[in-house]
Amino acid sequence: MGALRLGVNIDHVATIRNARGGALPDPTRAALIAIEAGADGITAHLREDRRHIHDDDMRALKAAISKPLNFEMAATEPMLDIALDIRPHACCLVPEKRTERTTEGGLDVIGGHNSLKPFVAELGAAGIRVSLFIEPSLEALEAAASLRAPVVELHAGAWCHALERQEHERAAHEFERLRAAAAKTASLGIECHAGHGLDYDSARTIAALPQIVELNIGHFLVGEAIFVGLAETVKRMRAAMDEGRGAAR
Ligand code: PXP
Repeated sequence: MGALRLGVNIDHVATIRNARGGALPDPTRAALIAIEAGADGITAHLREDRRHIHDDDMRALKAAISKPLNFEMAATEPMLDIALDIRPHACCLVPEKRTERTTEGGLDVIGGHNSLKPFVAELGAAGIRVSLFIEPSLEALEAAASLRAPVVELHAGAWCHALERQEHERAAHEFERLRAAAAKTASLGIECHAGHGLDYDSARTIAALPQIVELNIGHFLVGEAIFVGLAETVKRMRAAMDEGRGAAR
């Protein structure tokens, strides 16, 4: 089983900054601390409404960090222009609704096939690794493969939500969907990531799925950082992931 990378999403450092409209806390400083503590990459989502990360944050992150930058974005022309200008290591295409508090579901890779195709192609041609944030379903995976996306990120939100509510049957069902989807990526030749809603326990559990090579985690880490500091939180998350991976070997 290969290594499992931790991508730290720093969006909510910007959420806290924007609550006062000033410059602090600085998301780039958080990214540097996370990398120093063991993060393998940094993720930031430039939303169309700029509710947390701003355009300048993306530029500052690209200039400052030594590890891969994963630029999350909606598949729109203005975002494509920004991504092609900034040239991050990777772009994760996500669905976006103005009224949602967070990314609620996966991309409609089946119905949206034709509109997504040029985004996957253009970003790929620019040397940016494209990942599609999808529901853990076999149909969505096949659609991602037909779009020639090199990477998918499986939406772990439904599983994490069921765990949080202690809905055990639902959680088992959702985990089985993640397991089956991750297994399928291997036969499709797609790299498999997962994210959304993960905490120490769920990250430890999902780390046992051997096809998953990267977890992207944000809200929980920034929340925990309030109590124990960001570096300590990233270290604890790394340890939880390594424990889950190690136990599965
Ligand atoms: N992956 C993707 C594609 C996301 O949209 C998000 C949320 O921005 C995350 C991972 C991180 O989710 P969370 O903040 O719940 O850890």
